[in-house]
Amino acid sequence: MNPLRGMLLAASDSPWLRAQAERRRLVRRAVTRFMPGESLDDALAAAKALAAQRLGTILTHLGENVRDAAEARAVADHYLEVVRRIRDGALDAEVSVKLTQLGLDLGEVVAIENLARVADCARTLPGRLWIDMESSAYVDRTFGVLRAVRDRHPRLGVALQAYLYRSAADLETLIASGTSVRIVKGAYREPASVAMPRKADVDDNFFRLCVRLLAEDARGRGAWLTAGTHDSALIARIAAAADAAGVPRDAYEFAMLYGIQRLEQARLAAAGHRCRVLVSYGSYWFPWYMRRLAERPANVLFVLRGVFGH
Ligand code: FDA
Repeated sequence: MNPLRGMLLAASDSPWLRAQAERRRLVRRAVTRFMPGESLDDALAAAKALAAQRLGTILTHLGENVRDAAEARAVADHYLEVVRRIRDGALDAEVSVKLTQLGLDLGEVVAIENLARVADCARTLPGRLWIDMESSAYVDRTFGVLRAVRDRHPRLGVALQAYLYRSAADLETLIASGTSVRIVKGAYREPASVAMPRKADVDDNFFRLCVRLLAEDARGRGAWLTAGTHDSALIARIAAAADAAGVPRDAYEFAMLYGIQRLEQARLAAAGHRCRVLVSYGSYWFPWYMRRLAERPANVLFVLRGVFGH
């Protein structure tokens, strides 16, 4: 792993750095490049603006590793409000949750109970309800919660990380149950024993996983591909493979993060592809923002000045 990427991912776990960053105006300003604001209203306004460009949205309230049961329950309550606001606004918006924010560290039962409440409510929307994939220590438990809640929501989907060696096998299980899958490269600090260290291998695996999801038998079972990447070369390869196999452009979609590759997002929509933008909001942005920096360390100097400067 690139040493700077490793450092940034290590920093993402530091409560001290988080406290420092949250206090600095310069850092907060830098963060706005990746999120429209901290409130749900900010996120919904962004979703409306994106809809005008024929871009759908995925909304996520930032937070992870919640270790207080009442707080985890409050997160689920918040998502019920999000679903209500999406429905009232007739927005083409989906929701994505992190299970550790819904209490997974307190036990699977807590996360299942909270996710089930969100699922019961979100099934009234036409779109999908997504589960983010967190670090490798959570993968089995994430699938356990998914299995427990699957019957509550017909379009419950999960992210799958192309950097993990295990993902090709996991994908077969997900396809067999007709699950929606968001393929992503993977954003956490993982040892080489579980995650491919070479970017070229991750990119190839990403492509293979997407092609597998586009196959007729996978689609026939109800599985769905959302390719979550900003990698234009990979996007072009996936679109070409889908066209060559005769897969209609509305039978899969691309997804990107708010503020990244805006031109590519617009280009895809104009070319008749489905494209969603994941809009994050909330005050707990530090670990999430550090992962974004680790993906592209170009802005790091500017941000460090904001953290340590006077
Ligand atoms: P790559 O890192 O190769 O970047 C390709 C190009 O995109 C770069 O050259 C650059 O131009 C641009 N780019 C990428 N990241 C950028 C950044 N931060 N700032 C500026 N430009 C950037 N991860 C995870 O572990 N679990 C999850 O549930 C999710 N969910 C998720 C949803 C969606 C919709 C997306 C787009 C991503 C995720 N991720 C994720 C994050 C994912 O694992 C990965 O870390 C990032 O998408 C970066 O990888 P790329 O595929 O963009 O390719």
